Amino acid sequence: MAIVTGAGGRGNSIGRAYALGLAGAGAAVVVADLNAAGAKAVADEIVAAGGKAIAATVDITDPETVAQMVGAANESFGGVDILVNNAALMVELGSQPASDIPLDDWNRILNVNLTGALICAQAVIPIMRARGGGRIVNQVSGGAFPAVSIYGIGKLALVGLTTTLARQLGREGIAVNAIAPGNTTSDAGKLLTPDDSPFIKYLEMNVAMRVRGAPDELVGTLLLLCSPAGAWITGQVIHVDGGWVLRP
Ligand SMILES: NC(=O)c1ccc[n+]([C@@H]2O[C@H](COP(=O)([O-])OP(=O)(O)OC[C@H]3O[C@@H](n4cnc5c(N)ncnc54)[C@H](O)[C@@H]3O)[C@@H](O)[C@H]2O)c1
Repeated sequence: MAIVTGAGGRGNSIGRAYALGLAGAGAAVVVADLNAAGAKAVADEIVAAGGKAIAATVDITDPETVAQMVGAANESFGGVDILVNNAALMVELGSQPASDIPLDDWNRILNVNLTGALICAQAVIPIMRARGGGRIVNQVSGGAFPAVSIYGIGKLALVGLTTTLARQLGREGIAVNAIAPGNTTSDAGKLLTPDDSPFIKYLEMNVAMRVRGAPDELVGTLLLLCSPAGAWITGQVIHVDGGWVLRP
């Protein structure tokens, strides 16, 4: 049983691909988003295809709605095995330089992109403990390696939350990993970096393979991290980006 946050946004979103992928692999899925209509549309799509899903309206920065989301998962599907912390502010962010960003903006961004993931993790960890294990996957970004924006700072901090929870929870059978996508052709991604943007030109000079991938091209990695085949993987960041961020 899986919860995917940020799965009900703009039409062709990464969260939707994750929710459809997990459902296709047999998981019952809670499609969670601030956007209630979007979450319902994706849950309906899964059910129409023969899968199991419900929609949940959640603000991941609000522990009360997060508790309701987890309560709905328990009630409908009897527990939580997988949490995908995918919701984030991305396309909404301007390119505010850190030197000048108003503290209110800084706090708002980190509250969603970092603290929101912690709140969701805290809500499911007791359930995973009681079930003898689970998988948490945090959606970070190639834009955190190195962090050169507020967005990148939040994603790099989310890597820190990933390794910290992985070390703490491993002996309890809870694996915590991160996926770092490259430039992905979700509707939000295309809006943020159109074909003629300077960032795409920069990627064209630095990425080994195609500079852009489709949301579906991230799903295999998520399924690996959530499957028996991924049972001994924890505390890792898996880059799915055509060779943008090259690690030693
Ligand atoms: N598209 C890319 O190129 C790319 C690259 C690397 C990483 N990512 C990451 O992938 C994830 C999905 O990106 P996407 O391109 O599908 O964008 P998206 O904007 O379609 O998805 C983000 C979703 O999060 C939801 N959300 C925002 N704040 C929320 C809150 N407080 N509570 C609940 N839901 C909230 C939004 O409604 C939206 O549905 C994000 O974490 C993003 O940072 C995207």
